[in-house]
Amino acid sequence: MTQERTLPSPEAIQSALHETHAKFKDLKDGVNASYIPALAEVPSDLFGIAVVTADGGVYEVGDTRYGFAIESISKVFSMALVMEEMGPDAIHAKVGADPTGLPFNSVIAVELHGGKPLSPLVNAGAMSTVSLVKAATAQERWQKILDGYGRFAGRDLTINEDVYESEAATNFHNRGIAWLLYSYGTMYSDPIEACDVYTRQCSVAITALDLATMGATLAAGGINPVTKDRVISPLNTPHVLAEMTMEGLYDSSGDWAYTAALPGKSGVGGGLLAVVPGVLAIGAFAPPLDPVGNSVKGVLAATHIANVLGLNIFAG
Ligand code: DON
Repeated sequence: MTQERTLPSPEAIQSALHETHAKFKDLKDGVNASYIPALAEVPSDLFGIAVVTADGGVYEVGDTRYGFAIESISKVFSMALVMEEMGPDAIHAKVGADPTGLPFNSVIAVELHGGKPLSPLVNAGAMSTVSLVKAATAQERWQKILDGYGRFAGRDLTINEDVYESEAATNFHNRGIAWLLYSYGTMYSDPIEACDVYTRQCSVAITALDLATMGATLAAGGINPVTKDRVISPLNTPHVLAEMTMEGLYDSSGDWAYTAALPGKSGVGGGLLAVVPGVLAIGAFAPPLDPVGNSVKGVLAATHIANVLGLNIFAG
């Protein structure tokens, strides 16, 4: 017999948020990403945590309205949008659904698997996923992605131009991966165009509150619980959440599953998303990263909240 996870009370959520923020706010571990120069300039002491529940409750503490670059967390939502267009089998067959066990920008991972990226949540798989968005032009592909993210967030989102220009001027490694995929037949549009649209999607500015709302849309089976907009089918959300559990925190996804036990996703902009299916999502933001590329405070905060509120998806 399974035990259903129930929604914690508003008081329990608010108190867990405040206690967690106070517990970790002065932690100095980690460093901002610097390989994208604009990210190094974001104030390192920013720290916000938001929770949005599957029935639309909103809870916040700290810097939850600061706009930061979504970076790799975007991969989750592009995967979801392509799944919506093509179905889960197509993305499984063309991109894959396995953890690579290697860093997010690994070339070796592509080589080891005959050109199959393995996961839509690593850079190779994310660019391959972007190339699958049905569009006649790069502009149309980009606009579909941006509009889709806006529906997940419940508001129109915009690109952070400084981050985009900074990343576009330095993304030689990703351009190399894009061409490598093309050589293997796992890049489904012009490779440099896909790399550029991917770079744009990574530069979309979101807040911790947006992130929690985007995650809550996945928690609620694809319906944005605040706007009530059905963004994706409930048949697709389990596939997205499964992939987040397997690869969302890259080579520390196993540690994350062991300790937080939730579908999650990190971004080098300092965002961290954790989703409790059917219940809520946690969106955290703190720029300093661990060596794998995950927000130090984001991981600690989401893990602590999950444990305090008893949200472990494997308990029952
Ligand atoms: O392609 C990149 O390297 C970045 N735009 C995104 C990487 C990222 O966020 C990895 N996440 N932790």
